[in-house]
Amino acid sequence: MAARSAISPQIEPMKRYLLQFAHEHFDFRVQEIKSILSLIGCQATLKESDLNDGSPFMELELASDTVAKALMQRTVLSKRLYEFWEEGTSVSDVSTKIRQLPKDMIEPYTSESNSFRIVVETFNKKLSSGEKISRIEKLTETGSIFRGPINLNCPDYSFHLLEFYHNDATSQPASEPSKIYFGRWIADGQRARIQQYHLQKRHFIANTSMDACLSMVMANFGQIKDNDFVFDPFVGSGSLLVACAHYGAYVAGTDIDFLLLHAKAKPSRAKQKARSQDESVRSNLQQYGFESKYIDVLVADASHHKMWREGCQFDAIITDPPYGIRESAAKIANVQDAKVITLEEGAQRYPQKAQYQLGDIFKDLLNFAAKYLNKGGRLVYWLPIYKPDYQESNIPQHPCLEVESNCEQPLSTTISRRLITMVKIREFEGPESDREQKASIAVDHYQCETFRQKYFRATETETQEKKESDTLSSGKNHS
Ligand SMILES: C[S@@+](CC[C@H](N)C(=O)[O-])C[C@H]1O[C@@H](n2cnc3c(N)ncnc32)[C@H](O)[C@@H]1O
Repeated sequence: MAARSAISPQIEPMKRYLLQFAHEHFDFRVQEIKSILSLIGCQATLKESDLNDGSPFMELELASDTVAKALMQRTVLSKRLYEFWEEGTSVSDVSTKIRQLPKDMIEPYTSESNSFRIVVETFNKKLSSGEKISRIEKLTETGSIFRGPINLNCPDYSFHLLEFYHNDATSQPASEPSKIYFGRWIADGQRARIQQYHLQKRHFIANTSMDACLSMVMANFGQIKDNDFVFDPFVGSGSLLVACAHYGAYVAGTDIDFLLLHAKAKPSRAKQKARSQDESVRSNLQQYGFESKYIDVLVADASHHKMWREGCQFDAIITDPPYGIRESAAKIANVQDAKVITLEEGAQRYPQKAQYQLGDIFKDLLNFAAKYLNKGGRLVYWLPIYKPDYQESNIPQHPCLEVESNCEQPLSTTISRRLITMVKIREFEGPESDREQKASIAVDHYQCETFRQKYFRATETETQEKKESDTLSSGKNHS
């Protein structure tokens, strides 16, 4: 039997739907759907095994079209959702099956008074317009269920014939579809947001600004909603705050980089000579009309928790800590060890910075979340990984936080990062010195070698391997 995962016990009668995912961020797609469904409090059954052969189509059961539309109002990793009518292995098969569907299911959409259109879409194969038309003719020939007028531009209802061709990487492209679906279009996902918030059009970016798609995914994993209070301790240019403000949250952050937050850092755009005065997190929120959601950003060290007053609580902490590759991972040195640096006369003094080990960054982050998150609130963060060494025991833990999901984004053959979502399940009872109340990492991924060292070693090896394979293949070509 196909593997199905239920989001919550079924009470209402459920309807069959078909979700068409975007062809990216594979490990995040189902989790995004689960997060949104849990946020909107809806029952669902997902047939995850549908995705096993690389198909972008997944069947799911939901209570109603209203729930289905609410889901599509948030997902950025899904393209479209259809009411699931039929499936088969040939167009004739599907055409026969839809004629046998119960009248009360199809008639509200197929009567003489409803205009319609049929769209043919394929995955892993291109069809000519002639081939598409012949499929549409098969579905609408004599005896067809569709009795209304055709309207290609603005129909009352849109029906989609979706063909999935399973291409085995080693063999020739498949000539026949392995699955054909037919459904009534319900809603599109939020793919357009990726362009709307694209970094190319963003007023202020930094070297490691998070792209729009993943920022929205993080906000969905964090279940951000209207009037939440969201904090990013490693705020940079505030991309994650933009995504959270899009979902109606009030947002705040800290970053240790004074120059970045004050528009004095080196510009991150190739042709830009100097930053303009108004390059700030605030102006990014202004750009999208979210200024009223901006609380503030502070130049502060995320490792120093004592600056926060007791009782300050966030609904979510969404962040991308520094990995020490493109931006430094630093913290303020202990005051007693710090040599105060005096700049020119009259200029400010900056406390000395010390190396911030990745293991400590994550333990500090979890300790902070355990204390300053509301119960039920979510911590969403990226953990950089050297794949050959990774094991589950590398995930930082805290007795107040439970891992909800752990999704991988591969960056190269050996390097990836994992998006970890944790939920605060119990109140922090302190004191912070109590071992039982502290974050820990069972096996510290970065103890023997820093991520930076692992990263550059992996990059060098990969470059070397590529050179060798290029030399080999050019040798072959010349021989
Ligand atoms: C990966 S970047 C975050 C990028 C951000 N999400 C964005 O979209 O622009 C990490 C940030 O952490 C900051 N950082 C490094 N050490 C820090 C510390 N101890 N406290 C606060 N921020 C720190 C860096 O200056 C950098 O801006």
